[in-house]
Amino acid sequence: MTNNPQTTVSFDKKPPVKVEEYDKSIRLFCAAYEEMFRISHSCLRARIQKDAKLLIVGAGTGMEVCEFGPLNPGWSFCGVDPSEDMLKLATKNISKNNLTNQIELKKGYVDDLEDSEVFDGATCILVMHFLKDDGGKLALLKSICKRLKRGTPFLLIDGHGQPGSMEFEEIKASWKQYPIIQGVQIESMENAFEEVIMKMIRFVPESRILELLSTAGFTGMFKFYSGFLYGGWIGYKA
Ligand SMILES: C[S@@+](CC[C@H](N)C(=O)[O-])C[C@H]1O[C@@H](n2cnc3c(N)ncnc32)[C@H](O)[C@@H]1O
Repeated sequence: MTNNPQTTVSFDKKPPVKVEEYDKSIRLFCAAYEEMFRISHSCLRARIQKDAKLLIVGAGTGMEVCEFGPLNPGWSFCGVDPSEDMLKLATKNISKNNLTNQIELKKGYVDDLEDSEVFDGATCILVMHFLKDDGGKLALLKSICKRLKRGTPFLLIDGHGQPGSMEFEEIKASWKQYPIIQGVQIESMENAFEEVIMKMIRFVPESRILELLSTAGFTGMFKFYSGFLYGGWIGYKA
């Protein structure tokens, strides 16, 4: 595995939440997490043929495969992720759902894939926002684009917004209520937001995300999901 300078957050060394709590915690903090995957699934099914190989960037605990796999038996997946701990959970979750035959999990980064590996679509869900906008975000998008066939879809879900702006702070205040109404204690919520989310996520405005996507070689991007400061876009490799 390359020592990839693009990564600023290690889920093995300093995870935002304990890895074994990720599946529970993400549902408390990411608005409509499961619905977000169902919407993503619908967007992909409208664009991808029955037999397709998809690249899952930041496969985490395996949610993409568990959502997309069962209804698309002709799809196969290559999931890459640098975190051994997250991949262990992915292996378990995928096996529980009898989807092991549809996926190959690889510990590492997109750059570690063989140049000959090409895909019919890709997703990058809740990953790019951990990278700084100092070339890291763009390098990740370019490396994904390089591995897609022309005209195939790319789906991105990422944190976005301009910290300090009135809009950002208003949305953040509403977002903070989301875990609370699900029973998270105020102190834990404040800690999660101010010490974890706001420090680890490298927010950039939506206009910058669209600029990065276009520079990396994607076209026709449109927004299909918005949950507080997370947004989802889908488009194609030009
Ligand atoms: C917040 S989790 C998202 C997991 C899954 N996509 C989901 O939505 O539940 C982020 C994952 O991205 C992985 N990751 C971090 N930097 C990465 C990179 N440069 N390339 C690929 N995966 C990365 C982390 O190890 C972690 O498993």
